[in-house]
Amino acid sequence: MSVSDFEAEARTRLPGQVADYFAAASGSGVSLLEGTADWGAVRFRPRVLRDVSQVDSATTVLGTPVRMPIMVAPMAQQVAAHPDGECAMARAVAATGSLLGVSTNAAVPFADINAAGAPWWFQVYVSRDRSLTELLVQRAVQDGARALILTVDMVALLSPAVDPRFWPESPGKSRLTNLTPDELAAAGPTGVELDPTVGFADIAWLAQLSGLPVLVKGVLRGDDAVRCLDSGAAGVVVSTHGGRRMGASISSARALPEVIAAVDGRAEVYVDSGLRTGEHVAAALAMGARGVFIGRPTLWALAARGEPGVRTVLEDLAVDLRQVMLQLGVARPDDLGPDLIAS
Ligand code: FNR
Repeated sequence: MSVSDFEAEARTRLPGQVADYFAAASGSGVSLLEGTADWGAVRFRPRVLRDVSQVDSATTVLGTPVRMPIMVAPMAQQVAAHPDGECAMARAVAATGSLLGVSTNAAVPFADINAAGAPWWFQVYVSRDRSLTELLVQRAVQDGARALILTVDMVALLSPAVDPRFWPESPGKSRLTNLTPDELAAAGPTGVELDPTVGFADIAWLAQLSGLPVLVKGVLRGDDAVRCLDSGAAGVVVSTHGGRRMGASISSARALPEVIAAVDGRAEVYVDSGLRTGEHVAAALAMGARGVFIGRPTLWALAARGEPGVRTVLEDLAVDLRQVMLQLGVARPDDLGPDLIAS
């Protein structure tokens, strides 16, 4: 089953407003369209006469071994996709030897996600009431998170009508389930809002609070990437939030080379937004990314077929990647380099 088949099937099962929320893009939607088109525009310079008798997609991400450098992006509202939500996602990730990003707005307890056995990184949105963020981070650490992903590209928008995250309250909507109703009530409605004062200094705050490596997600410029590293980040995730950040930002495929050049081997760089095929993943790795995150395809698959659906998406992508590696004359992800890409 292809990703578009999963999406079509998911749309027959999901309430319209949930499917619209999953698919949403910001503004004109150009970032969403170019997000995939720009990966598709990459052309390769394959090597010949290399030993590719044993092509293997296994690698490490921040020191954690994975069978594929293809991970699941942190996404909210997975229980709206499937009753088992993040738990089903985590089981599929465990079965395929991948790694899971878990959203601040995860709708199931961290301990249940951890029990699936997949390595996971906790995605942080800093709330105005910092004590909520501290509680969430401490719980994530206690329940097995191996790194933090600080997402910095979601600013509060002036009008909910232009906010792709806008989703009218409905019975299916859940957020911040890893905080108690009392904790949320004490913070009040403004306390849970995104803190607009988050800055570079908060990277060290989170690193110290958690004792974990912190990746900064939503970086699209080399100078910002360097400032993140100088401020204590273990790496960055180049991302347009899947075209949900703004209507017309540079695509992650176009931003990645500048970020890789600026980081200059000091740290691991990850990328997401619009990747859909093994060629897209190979392009990202050849440009210098350590791994990629996949968003909507896994969510559509979760909604359409649950855990087996997600497994299919991840396994098909890994097979596709290995096929492209074979065609490029490359046996290991580490051997993918910029010489493979035509300028
Ligand atoms: C997201 N994304 C996201 N990112 C994040 O840091 N925290 C979050 O809670 C969410 N929630 C979320 C919900 C939904 C429905 C989507 C589609 C996306 C962004 C996500 O992590 C990732 O950056 C993009 O989804 C990657 O792009 P593709 O693969 O969906 O094109």
